[in-house]
Amino acid sequence: MKRVSKFAFLAALPLGIAAIAAPAHAVDWSSVQGKDVTLFYPGQASWEWVLTPADHSGAPKFREGKNCKQCHAGEAKDMGALIASGKKREPTPVAGKRGSVVANVKMAHDGDKFYARFEWPDAGEPAQKMAADFAARVTMMFDDGKVKEAGRAGCWGVCHDDATDMESAGGKERKKYLSASRVKITRQGGGDNMKGQGDLDQMKAGGVFLEYWQARLNPGAAAVAVDGHILEKRTDHEKPIVTAEGKLDGGKWVVVLSRKMKAGDPSYKDIVPGGVYNVGFAIHDQYTWHRFHHVSFEHTFAVDQGEADFVAVKK
Ligand code: HEC
Repeated sequence: MKRVSKFAFLAALPLGIAAIAAPAHAVDWSSVQGKDVTLFYPGQASWEWVLTPADHSGAPKFREGKNCKQCHAGEAKDMGALIASGKKREPTPVAGKRGSVVANVKMAHDGDKFYARFEWPDAGEPAQKMAADFAARVTMMFDDGKVKEAGRAGCWGVCHDDATDMESAGGKERKKYLSASRVKITRQGGGDNMKGQGDLDQMKAGGVFLEYWQARLNPGAAAVAVDGHILEKRTDHEKPIVTAEGKLDGGKWVVVLSRKMKAGDPSYKDIVPGGVYNVGFAIHDQYTWHRFHHVSFEHTFAVDQGEADFVAVKK
């Protein structure tokens, strides 16, 4: 608490206690059912890697229509431990990196705004900081049925072999992208061989992109919200409409991301009652960036009702 506000708080107590405890927009999270999601360390297991039978024995069945989770449900912890150790798909393991982290995820709405809440244990200070600017970041990426890969493989649909720090990047920086934005995809990814601007514009207008929300976090500081969309590259929106609140409390991060359900902007996806969305989650902890994160398999959320991993109801 800031020094000046101590007095203000005391003075406000007699008349304003209800307002302080529960501002009009706040969700009573204790009344929302959460779900534990295991996010695991993926190393350089890219979209192209998972699709290649010589690399990944699940590839043929995945190509035939079996989704990641259908084979790997319950395995994320072991997979993350194997990869983080450097025994598979990780040429430069990070010392002391945990293989997985369990985040408790809750979703809700209030008719105007949609809220996603994440709670996970902090990993503590790393031996070495990769990205000095933020201690942790939590991200969700979602789609409303326009991007097939999002439903089949969550985040993997934008994780290519030639993205920054991945096996075929060749030292180049390249952000996440959708295969549909490239003329051709090979085992090494799609490179910079993009479809024409007209095609990209048409896809974008048709909703062929993923939307993402991110909270960038430092202990004791206000969370910084970032939002954007991914088609030919990850594009951060100049003025995010997503807001983020979060803090590290007793070794646990608790973060809430939210925005208006109707964005009124074609660079966002409207979140509508009855809608079902594909979603993936990622956590960068211990000042990491790029592939050095933990990710979830594909999940779904629905608004008010529906068949989904998370059903966000009005609170
Ligand atoms: C048909 C079942 C099947 C499907 C579908 C499948 N996998 Fe796999 N996956 C396997 C098997 C079996 C292995 C272990 C042997 C290997 O690496 O080929 C594996 C290994 C992996 C590994 C390496 C870690 C380890 O434990 O060996 C990763 C990462 C992985 N899969 C990710 C994915 C992702 C992401 C998807 C979805 C895009 C997916 N898998 C879909 C069966 C599957």
